[in-house]
Amino acid sequence: MEKEIDTEMEDNSQMDLSSTSIDRLQEHNINMADINKLKAAGICTAKGLLMVTRKELLSIKGISDQKIDKMIEAAQKIESLGFSSASSIMEKRKHIRRITTGSHNLDSLLHGGIESMAITEAFGEFRTGKTQLSHTLCVTAQLPNSQGGGYGKVIYIDTENTFRPERIREISKRFELDENQTLDNILVARAYTVDHLNQLLMAAASKMYEDNYSLMIVDSIMAPFRVDYTGRGELSERQQVLGKTLSRLLKIAEQFNVAVFMTNQVMSDPGGNTAFACDPRKPVGGNIVAHASTTRLYFRKGKGEQRVCKIYDSPLLPESECTFCLGDGGVCDPND
Ligand SMILES: Nc1ncnc2c1ncn2[C@@H]1O[C@H](COP(=O)(O)OP(=O)(O)OP(=O)(O)O)[C@@H](O)[C@H]1O
Ligand SMILES: [Mg+2]
Repeated sequence: MEKEIDTEMEDNSQMDLSSTSIDRLQEHNINMADINKLKAAGICTAKGLLMVTRKELLSIKGISDQKIDKMIEAAQKIESLGFSSASSIMEKRKHIRRITTGSHNLDSLLHGGIESMAITEAFGEFRTGKTQLSHTLCVTAQLPNSQGGGYGKVIYIDTENTFRPERIREISKRFELDENQTLDNILVARAYTVDHLNQLLMAAASKMYEDNYSLMIVDSIMAPFRVDYTGRGELSERQQVLGKTLSRLLKIAEQFNVAVFMTNQVMSDPGGNTAFACDPRKPVGGNIVAHASTTRLYFRKGKGEQRVCKIYDSPLLPESECTFCLGDGGVCDPND
């Protein structure tokens, strides 16, 4: 499949919307050694360069203030991040990939599946299926577009040590994909700390520049933040760093036309919160996560073995819910 993805990319998996190689800065007298420094920091496209702050660029070793001015000027000649007409945005949105969840119910709730160029967040109590959906998407992300797939490879960042290749094998059987190739197309990394997570995101951007990826998973986003920053005293610092990490994720989604799927934990909220009044639990991460996620899904247990997914927040989808199940072949419908 690796070869197939490279040579037979279908139209909507092309990265034509995103990437003008950072190498082109050479045309404007930026030397390759400096370009390589940017690449090492995960900045591989002209657009990517225009998306980062000056402060971030200054933190790259060997990149001075003067160099940054020259680089940004060069990038602006290649790529513009200004206004574009609504119709051209509509045209661009035609390239969005939608990745099936494995459940018809969930897919119709999401108007076709998890979408690229956006962050989808699933939060809910333990054992509600967040990790199972992550695994299912790892497989369906590789299916051809005609089968509801994203026709690309996957990067999986595991912060809770719950990634299981054995599950990928079982799920690939259901979708009739070659098990070994499916596993080969998933790059997995364990993130132990927030710094490590951020380094992995930079490395992920480089990988996506080199090859066709359709999905990036972070299961779960808040785990390292909750370990690295404890207590109220560190809360504001935590939120600041969290904001940067999420903005990195969103840039990856937009730049490479990949779907970002992240899971989130819930905490007990004995005080009650009107937005979540029907359930005494709410996602961790506060407003920073709420604002970064394009679509938020709330998972809870339903009748028997069923699970319920409710859309909490989406720019496009109405608030509604559906049921799904977890099986050997991953996420499925209750009557499967
Ligand atoms: N092979 C399988 N067949 C059927 N169901 C399975 C299989 N493997 C796991 N499950 C179901 O998945 C559930 C665990 O779901 P999952 O690990 O996705 O939870 P989670 O929402 O990620 O929880 P946490 O918050 O603890 O990470 C199990 O309780 C079980 O019902
Ligand atoms: Mg989990």
